[in-house]
Amino acid sequence: MSYPYQITNYDQYKTAYKKSVDDPEGFWADIASHFYWRKRWDKVLEWDFSDYNVKWFQGGKLNITENCLDRHLGMMGNKPAIIWEPNDPEEHHRILTYRELHTKVVQFCNVLKNNGVKKGDRVCIYMGMVPELAIAVLACARMGAIHSVIFGGFSAQSIADRLWDANAEYVITCDGAFRGNKEIPLKSVIDDALIQCRFVKKTIVLTRTRTPVSMIKGRDVWWEDEIKKVETMGNPDFPAEEMDAEDPLFILYTSGSTGKPKGVVHTAGGYMIYTNYTFVNTFQYQPGDIHFCTADIGWITGHSYIVYGPLSAGATSLLFEGIPTWPDAGRFWDIVDKYKVNVLYTAPTAIRSLMGFGLGPVHGKHLDSLKVLGTVGEPINEEAWNWYNENIGKGRCPIVDTWWQTETGGCMISNMAGVTPSKPTYATLPMPGIQPVLMDENGKILEGNDVSGNLCIKFPWPSILRTTYGDHDRCKQNYFSAYPGYYFTGDGCHRDEHGFYRITGRVDDVLNVSGHRIGTAEVENAINMHAGVVESAVVGYPHDIKGQGIYAYVIYTGTHGDESLARQDITLTVSRIIGPIAKPDRIQFVSGLPKTRSGKIMRRILRKIAEGETENLGDTSTLLDPGIVEEIKNGKL
Ligand code: PRX
Repeated sequence: MSYPYQITNYDQYKTAYKKSVDDPEGFWADIASHFYWRKRWDKVLEWDFSDYNVKWFQGGKLNITENCLDRHLGMMGNKPAIIWEPNDPEEHHRILTYRELHTKVVQFCNVLKNNGVKKGDRVCIYMGMVPELAIAVLACARMGAIHSVIFGGFSAQSIADRLWDANAEYVITCDGAFRGNKEIPLKSVIDDALIQCRFVKKTIVLTRTRTPVSMIKGRDVWWEDEIKKVETMGNPDFPAEEMDAEDPLFILYTSGSTGKPKGVVHTAGGYMIYTNYTFVNTFQYQPGDIHFCTADIGWITGHSYIVYGPLSAGATSLLFEGIPTWPDAGRFWDIVDKYKVNVLYTAPTAIRSLMGFGLGPVHGKHLDSLKVLGTVGEPINEEAWNWYNENIGKGRCPIVDTWWQTETGGCMISNMAGVTPSKPTYATLPMPGIQPVLMDENGKILEGNDVSGNLCIKFPWPSILRTTYGDHDRCKQNYFSAYPGYYFTGDGCHRDEHGFYRITGRVDDVLNVSGHRIGTAEVENAINMHAGVVESAVVGYPHDIKGQGIYAYVIYTGTHGDESLARQDITLTVSRIIGPIAKPDRIQFVSGLPKTRSGKIMRRILRKIAEGETENLGDTSTLLDPGIVEEIKNGKL
């Protein structure tokens, strides 16, 4: 498969970019014409950012899995679609060709059908990184069910909240998941979640860890037994359901500045075109390359650049079950060496953590297959960029710094490997079709170069989120009200003298901890659930490995044990309510919080103190009790 829309030099990029702005509809229609549609669209784009509504390729009929699987079967049926590397390097890896993956997806569609799943139903997927996770995702897409994958690090309560929000009546899970030397009891977590979700009709459980599980009669079935039933039926075909371009493909929950995660909805047509286009162009994928994206499919990066982008491009996608540091910190490099990986796409936090182990784990590993390196999820610092460049890329692999979000579906601002210029710590230039705008606090557009402001996007692209599930007003409010007529990203950004963009981090109350998005309000809600807690305020602070750490100021009146036990209790509460990923790194007990007379917590001050700033805390005269600041400063951890 070759890609007629692959940009191969800087001039072509400039031409493509210009066309994408002058004639966006013509630009995207040309690209979309290279995909398989059951019926061509009637209208390329309809949009309104004031009363938010966006529709791409209206009237078009397709199924994304026909583009990801069926259309490759003729020429590329025997080509590896997924290479799976297990957690334990001693365990045998698996390779699924496009034909095998197709067969398994069809089979699992029949399993879903036999269990009552229909087009439009919401299916929650809570699994480890095994090939069956990709199979479950694709089977949902093939039958038109809306998948909602939940990362394995979320707690029962988080799952229950998401199941309620999406009214998901079906769950697919594993008995457990292997992660490094840990075994995560996924089914048991699901069981806890389902106590609150009696509306769930079926749970399909894959065997992975042989962790003991309780299977509830009538509700829980084993994946393997259900496959056997389909085999007994003679493995019937399952033709892909015909979907409208604008039918929802999936929901993915993400944190915002309010306490409740939002169900970001992506639709089939636009998402397919944009993830494929950005996959092919950002990474400069060449047929035959092995693409290794280290993200989890529980996050958008995994959806777009392990599953849909690569598979729609007929690529070979490597799926890794484990973690970078187990059995040792050379795990990524062993995998690159073993499979002759060509493209490695990971997060700055992983790079920083691996840097900490020195060069020992890199020595002796053959990394010469690598052609392109990528980073995503958070700003990369210069030191990590240089380490990655020198020790992994050996100075000969372009690094693409891809800025994007769950809501954007695919990468938005990034250099294209070896094609457009790169600059350390800069995401550089927008993808064709993306029109970034920097705004000041008052909504004035900052023109020209060498300016910093809030990053907005002024024109829709095919994979922009369509809504937040079940609450369109929330979507309008969250993304389209701060700067009317623009999509507001929540990020701060600098545009340098060349017009290159550098993302500086969130400007709202969202933290980025190890590349995971966590709302401060969510963490506060969880801390406040603890019986001894009166009130809390959570801020981020710079953390060498995680990028940001979670700093919690807590008013505590509990009597159970000493401070250290109280901290552990609070941490456990957060783990229970959200998941281990949201555990505070530091908890400082305080007698009060700096509040204005109207009762608003002045987080700016708390943030500065957490960052280690003691002097310039800004104006504290509007505080109800300025004395509290002194106390907090003195008690800083
Ligand atoms: O703050 C930006 C940061 O991650 C946020 C999006 O998080 P999420 O929806 O979880 O998606 C992460 C993977 C696409 C953004 O608002 N971010 C993402 N990529 C970068 C980044 N910050 C700086 N540089 C990046 N390359």
